[in-house]
Amino acid sequence: MTFSRRHFIKSGLATGLVAPFIQPAFAVPTSALFDCGVASGDPTYEAVILWTHTAQPVSIVWQVAEDLHFTRIVKQGRGDTVEASDCTFKVDVTGLTPGTVYYYRFIAGKEQSEPGRTKTLPQGSLDTLSIAVASCSNYPFGYFNAYHHIATDADIDYVVHLGDYIYEYGQDGWGDKEGQALNRRHQPANEIVSLADYRMRHRQYKTDNGSRLMHAAHPLIPTWDDHESANNPYMNGAQNHQPDEGSWAARRAASIQAYYEWMPVREPGNDADKAKLWRHFDFGHLATLTTLETRHTGRSLQIDYGEHLKQLNTEQSLRHFIETVLGDPGRTMISIAMEQFLETQLRDSVKQATWRLIGNQIPIARTHVPAVNDLALPASLAESDPVAAHFAYFIALGKLDLPIYLDTWDGYPVAREKFYQLCQSVNATDLIVLTGDSHAFWANQLFAGDGDPMGVELGTAGVTSPGDFESLGPQLATELDKRVSEHNREIRWTDCQHRGYVKVRVNTDNVNAQFVAVNNITSEHYQASILREYQITKQGNSLSMALV
Ligand SMILES: [Fe+2]
Repeated sequence: MTFSRRHFIKSGLATGLVAPFIQPAFAVPTSALFDCGVASGDPTYEAVILWTHTAQPVSIVWQVAEDLHFTRIVKQGRGDTVEASDCTFKVDVTGLTPGTVYYYRFIAGKEQSEPGRTKTLPQGSLDTLSIAVASCSNYPFGYFNAYHHIATDADIDYVVHLGDYIYEYGQDGWGDKEGQALNRRHQPANEIVSLADYRMRHRQYKTDNGSRLMHAAHPLIPTWDDHESANNPYMNGAQNHQPDEGSWAARRAASIQAYYEWMPVREPGNDADKAKLWRHFDFGHLATLTTLETRHTGRSLQIDYGEHLKQLNTEQSLRHFIETVLGDPGRTMISIAMEQFLETQLRDSVKQATWRLIGNQIPIARTHVPAVNDLALPASLAESDPVAAHFAYFIALGKLDLPIYLDTWDGYPVAREKFYQLCQSVNATDLIVLTGDSHAFWANQLFAGDGDPMGVELGTAGVTSPGDFESLGPQLATELDKRVSEHNREIRWTDCQHRGYVKVRVNTDNVNAQFVAVNNITSEHYQASILREYQITKQGNSLSMALV
C-alpha cells in the first residue's frame, strides 16, 4: 500500500452532495410509516423492482416519474403491505424505457416516503457504465459510510452487492465489542435462526443512514454470500449451524424468505427454487454481468484444516492432502444447472458485448500463505488474543505453502478449473471477476491451471467488516499484504487494512477500477480516498492490468 498515491475525494460532511435528491449529509427524511426508506433493484431493459416497508399494514400507492418533483408520472399503482410478508412491499414495474433514470415514491394517506432514484438497463450501443461493488456490511462494526459515499456519487449507475449484506451473529458474537461502543448492537440479541429473527435483522440493517441513502440513490443488483444465512454454508449445512438450532433446511428457508422480502430482488417465476439465485444482466453492447450462487445449490462441504494440518508432516502426506483431499474431483462449487446457465450467458456475451463481468462471492485467485515465521507479533498483543492464534496458524500454513482459506475457490481447485474450462469453451477468457467476502482489497490477474490467462479479479474490502490482520497494526499488516502479493503469481496488490468499495467504470476501450477506502466507521464523519487505481485493457481475448 502506498499512501502517497492516495487521492482524497469527497468527504461525508465537508462537500456538497452530488445527487440532487440526496438530502444534506445524514439528514435522512423520516416517515414514521415508511420507516426503512425505499430501494430499487434487479433492473432490466424495461422493468425494475421497487421496494419499501411500512411500520404497520396499510394500502399504498406507488408512483414512477421522469422527474424528481413527480410532475411527469409515467406509472402508478396500488398495493397493500401485509404481515404475511412482514409489511415489506415489492412491485415489478414494467413498460419503462431502456437506460432511463426514473424517480419513485410510495404514498399512504398523508404519509409519503422519501423519493428514490432508479435506472433501467441500457440497450444497444453504450459508451460508459459505472458500477459500485460492495460486500460485507456488518452493522455492529460501524457506520455504513462506504454506502453513504456510493450514494453521493452521481456517476454510479448501479450498485452490485456481492453478499454478507447482513450478519447472523448475536450479541455474544463477532463485532459486539465494537457494537457496544457504538450503540449498534445486533437485534435480535440472539444469533438469528427463525424467520422472525432474520426479518428483524434485515430491518435493523435498513435503518443505517448510509444504507438508506444508497438504496434511495441507486438501483441494487444483489446476490448473497454466507452470512445472509449462516457462516460458511454448503448444500447440506453450515459451519455456524448447530443441531440444537433446528434443521438447516428450515433455517435456510427462513433466511431466503426474509432475503426476498427485504431485498429489491425479482421473485423467480413458476415457483422456481428461490435458492437458485444466479442471474444475468446486459448493459447494452458494452458489458454483461453474470452473478453466481456459490453457497446453497452446488457447494460440497468445506475442508477444515483443523483435521488435517497436524498430519501434514511429510511430503507424501502434503501431496495426498493437495491432490486427493482438496483435489477430490467430486467436490463441487456450483450446480450443473448454474453451469449450463453460465455457459449460455457467456456464449451470448462473447458475441454481443465488449466486456464480461462475473459477480462472484468468494476469492478465486490462488492465494497461498507466504513464509512469515521471521515476523514478530507486536509486544502489545496479548498471547490470548485470537489474532495471535490466527497468526500462529498463518505461520504453519506458510511453512507448507498452503492456501489461506479453504472456503474460497482455493478449497475447490477442481471446481475452479472446471469453471475456467467452461469459460474457455465459449472463448470467455477475458473475465472481470468482481469478488467480495474476504474483507480485503485485491487486484489479481487470473490464470487457469494450464497457464492460460483468464482475466482479472477485483476484490472489495468490507463496508465495515475488518480484515483478518488489521489489529496487528499498520506496519505488520502492510508487510503481510506485501508478502502475500509477492508470493502469489496472480496477486498484483492486496490491502487488508481498509474498509470501502470498488468503483468500476467500464468504457469502450478500457475498464478503470478504483479501490475506494473510507477512513472512519466509528462515526458518520469520514473521508474517502482512492487507495489504488488500475486500468484494464484488452489484447485479443486476454486482459492486462496497469497501475494508474
Ligand atoms: Fe464478510
